[in-house]
Amino acid sequence: MTHRVTTAVFPVAGMGTRFLPATKSIPKEILTLVDRPLIQYAIDEARAAGITEFIFVTSRGKSALEDYFDCAPELESVLKQKNKTELLELLEATNMESGAIAYVRQHQALGLGHAVWCARHLIGDKPFAVILPDDVITGEEPCLKQMVEAYAEIGGNMVAAMEVPADKASAYGILDVPSSVSRCLPVRGMVEKPAPGSAPSNLAIIGRYILTPQILRNLDGQQRGAGGEIQLTDAIALEIANSGNVFGYRFQGERFDCGSKAGYLQATVAFALSRPDLRDELEAYLHQILATRQAAQ
Ligand code: UTP
Repeated sequence: MTHRVTTAVFPVAGMGTRFLPATKSIPKEILTLVDRPLIQYAIDEARAAGITEFIFVTSRGKSALEDYFDCAPELESVLKQKNKTELLELLEATNMESGAIAYVRQHQALGLGHAVWCARHLIGDKPFAVILPDDVITGEEPCLKQMVEAYAEIGGNMVAAMEVPADKASAYGILDVPSSVSRCLPVRGMVEKPAPGSAPSNLAIIGRYILTPQILRNLDGQQRGAGGEIQLTDAIALEIANSGNVFGYRFQGERFDCGSKAGYLQATVAFALSRPDLRDELEAYLHQILATRQAAQ
């Protein structure tokens, strides 16, 4: 089995209830960090990792995502006429090569595991990456690129892992791994949302995976697990039990949980502060409102 990864699955069929009412008509993945939709960051990360085949698992009401990656000829010709070269380049960078993205529908939101399983015929018999666009990760080297490089050496199945404070562990899936400073750790088990004080480590699973087709077979006939959903982590847990061929990869970078309102707002501020065209004005505004709030207390 090759350890080269060229296919990535983007499960974007969730209902995004935490962002209602916005997600009544806008897919969560179209929400922007400053001026780029979440899905654009995910695609850019995949491209930087050498991904050439992109599979979107979508659902009803997600057509804005398909339109976003289409050419926009009218807009392009207006920008050309007005000599807006920079904007034109910005726009062109979002176009995808014909046939690079394939779409498959998840007809019912039965869970992340089920969403990935819906892509099984498009994935075929090769290892594939899974990117959850609402986990946005910044860093010198894109997270998936770090993982693809490590994967080329060791193969198997790999999940991205991040250290979390002990009092936050119960919000995550936590890895049972030997204590080590190594970036890549063999996984002995996983505990979904452990009760306070019972987490086997401080390493939480984050939304980047590299998986073998065996995971898709594990998902065949998979029962609903936590939250009544067909869980991807259950299929990976089965793989740990059957082959032990699962690794946690401690990536370098900062992760923003853009699936939650607080995480999304933090990312918005962090991304805006990293932009030279916005930094000074925003920084001054943040200082001003903090000072006003402190004075009022
Ligand atoms: P979340 O757990 O964030 O669920 O899904 P959600 O529906 O997107 O959002 P909330 O919790 O209702 O606010 C994690 C990822 O799995 C995808 C989502 O689109 C998101 O990328 N997903 C989840 C599916 O594609 N299908 C599902 O049935 C469930």
